[in-house]
Amino acid sequence: MANIGKPTDAAMVAYYASRASEYDRIYQKPERQADIAALRERLPACFAGKRVLEIACGTGFWTQYIAPRARAVVALDAAPETMAIAARRVPADTVRFVQGDAYDLPTDLGVFDAAFAGFWFSHVPLARQRAFLQGLGAVLAPGASVVLLDNRYVPGSSTSIAETDLQGDSYQLRTLDDGTTHRVLKNFPTEARLRQVLDGLADQLVLTELDYYWVLEYQVPVQPD
Ligand SMILES: C[S@@+](CC[C@H](N)C(=O)[O-])C[C@H]1O[C@@H](n2cnc3c(N)ncnc32)[C@H](O)[C@@H]1O
Repeated sequence: MANIGKPTDAAMVAYYASRASEYDRIYQKPERQADIAALRERLPACFAGKRVLEIACGTGFWTQYIAPRARAVVALDAAPETMAIAARRVPADTVRFVQGDAYDLPTDLGVFDAAFAGFWFSHVPLARQRAFLQGLGAVLAPGASVVLLDNRYVPGSSTSIAETDLQGDSYQLRTLDDGTTHRVLKNFPTEARLRQVLDGLADQLVLTELDYYWVLEYQVPVQPD
């Protein structure tokens, strides 16, 4: 596992490092099973035969389904603790794991004609969203496909919003098995906001809403000669 770059959001990384061993329980919520089954069916096909850069791969829950269909996958996360679980889950011959910062993506990871980020965009502060998307576009080939998967806010299933700050970012209070409570930035963007922040950075943008999740698909623009 390569180790490059230092994360620029240390508190978020520390939270996920502490949560790594209990993270996958999020995929066992009974009410979300139909959506998860639909995504397991649908997402891998988006990456068939492609060279995929996965941002914030975590424990590799989605990597395990994408890798068998992709031509190659580079899976990046800032926390070694989550990637260690991913590396046990996904055969090393199909995926290269890289420790790095989603806000400062290495430019020497290879050529990618697709990217995937599951449940990452919701953790990006509003003020950093466009820069993150620009940075992602910069390491992808023109015309590359991008798929962002994230949560819809569903009362009774989602952790409630504890606070919204002056910048408009919202926060949840999350308690881990060790009893520690963490204030975690978690945004739930509207379609209008997604379209606004991607203005000029995305072609053929399509948003699909399931009961508990949204999936945003777009292509990195091909610059005219
Ligand atoms: C909600 S988890 C998503 C995990 C996985 N994509 C999934 O869908 O199950 C967010 C992940 O972002 C990672 N992360 C946090 N800050 C990061 C950063 N600056 N750069 C890269 N990864 C980061 C955490 O370590 C964590 O694994």
